[in-house]
Amino acid sequence: SWTMPNYIDQAVVKIREQVGSDEVILGLSGGVDSSVAAALIHRAIGDQLTCVFVDNGLLRLNEGKQVMETFAEHLGVRVIHVDATAQFMGHLAGVTDPEAKRKIIGREFVEVFQAESAKLPSAKWLAQGTIYPDVIESAGAKTGKAHAIKSHHNVGGLPETMKLSLLEPLRELFKDEVRELGVALGLAPELVYRHPFPGPGLGVRILGEVKQEYCELLKRADAIFIEELRAAVDEKSGKSWYELTSQAFVVFLPVKSVGVMGDGRTYDYVVALRAVITSDFMTAKWAELPYDLLGKVSNRIINEVRGINRVVYDVSGKPPATIEWE
Ligand code: XMP
Repeated sequence: SWTMPNYIDQAVVKIREQVGSDEVILGLSGGVDSSVAAALIHRAIGDQLTCVFVDNGLLRLNEGKQVMETFAEHLGVRVIHVDATAQFMGHLAGVTDPEAKRKIIGREFVEVFQAESAKLPSAKWLAQGTIYPDVIESAGAKTGKAHAIKSHHNVGGLPETMKLSLLEPLRELFKDEVRELGVALGLAPELVYRHPFPGPGLGVRILGEVKQEYCELLKRADAIFIEELRAAVDEKSGKSWYELTSQAFVVFLPVKSVGVMGDGRTYDYVVALRAVITSDFMTAKWAELPYDLLGKVSNRIINEVRGINRVVYDVSGKPPATIEWE
């Protein structure tokens, strides 16, 4: 009969048969799919797997540290941590168009990943966290943003010259099965049940030009919002507002407005809170978060993040708005 431990045993046997004694590389993004793929492949072949974690400076607060703790320290996976923040920021300087930003972030990722892979010339396999819905999606026609998502979210855009065979052990699994597998492999439920995070990260949550200064403010504001959503429990359902929402985040608006603090006047940035409820991300409702929760998040952000003096809540549905602001 089908059980998760049986499934893991079979998947491990299959991966071992497939790769033999070859070396495998995997691009770890911090997302659920690549994380679960890494944990499963590591279970099968241990140190034959090397993960490359590219920190583009556009991840959530402390995410780089968390990825290294989870994989390198806790699971004992070989992980090469590349801090490419300066490189990404350099290429994003002066760029304001959302699709142009996406292209740059995707291209730089491939560049950095390729450069790291070149240091592992014995690798024969490229592992990816492709899941069943990705397989179906890439079989159909894709346009616009949906296409941009896949074209750089997975490491799929790597040049032919790398001559690596693809190892995709999650190809037959749906998202909820991937999550169950992740927990069974020892990944923290908080990691495995996280809201989705776009490949271009904070790059599309800072409107217009991306600057390091904006990133730092946004990361801290976003961490406060998420912390309060996790802490606030809805009495009716007994669930946290993090669980009740499908995706929630802060958007940085490069706009200054006037405020007062003590005897003084401030002239600082505005952020918007976005929280949506959706089953397919094609349409979405804005979440009716309790006013006291919104008030608490606003107070904390304004008091704790110097440089932000105003917080607004986005009450736009999709359509006509999108979930992300870019
Ligand atoms: P929108 O903003 O189109 O977002 O309503 C729908 C879902 O897609 C995610 N999204 C992206 N994911 N790369 C990604 O990997 C992208 O460029 C991208 N743009 C949007 C968004 O976070 C939401 O879950």
